Amino acid sequence: MKFFIDTANLAQIKEAQELGVLDGVTTNPSLMAKEGITGEKNIIQHYKDICEIVDGDVSAEVISTDFEGMVREGEALAALHPQIVVKIPMIKDGIKALKYFSDQGIKTNCTLVFSAGQALLAAKAGASYVSPFIGRLDDISTDGLQLIEEIRLIYDNYDFETEILAASVRHTMHVLECAKIGADVITGPLGSITGLLKHPLTDIGLEQFLADYRKGN
Ligand code: E4P
Repeated sequence: MKFFIDTANLAQIKEAQELGVLDGVTTNPSLMAKEGITGEKNIIQHYKDICEIVDGDVSAEVISTDFEGMVREGEALAALHPQIVVKIPMIKDGIKALKYFSDQGIKTNCTLVFSAGQALLAAKAGASYVSPFIGRLDDISTDGLQLIEEIRLIYDNYDFETEILAASVRHTMHVLECAKIGADVITGPLGSITGLLKHPLTDIGLEQFLADYRKGN
């Protein structure tokens, strides 16, 4: 299972990278704005900075909503760095753009996926990743994890190569449940990854071991 971090915060990306378990980064225009990164020039530079920190895939989202615009933007983004994955919204022209980029050998991440039907279409169009937003489904009292199960079943039925990138992950239980279901990737905040290492018995046990060691020294 791959771990991506869902942020444009360079310090957090560095921290996750230094932990040694990071496989990539996802961003979106809202995450960029949250870090105060606005304007095309600054956003482009920020993508380059992220690619310098991590070894894996870095999703960069197009803003256009028409086919020609997505192709133009996506090609420019892909040319920035070999690690860039072009993030395309799940809309009609987005499907066409996914197919176009797939034919060109450019990696894509189909974003804003909220149903199994959308995930099926994205795979048919040759998306490298599909991003079902589980947290946002949970927010409206719909089981986000059940969607991951449905997509896993469909992709396995037909051996689709599209990787399931469980997005809008909010906490460690999302990560664990996604791992049980067999999602290929999760993307979430740093805390959803570092939270996995915490257990009170680990802390108590370590304290005891160190205290006992000190007794003999
Ligand atoms: C996915 O690529 C999105 O950036 C993200 O996971 C959205 O998460 P949110 O619902 O926490 O904003």
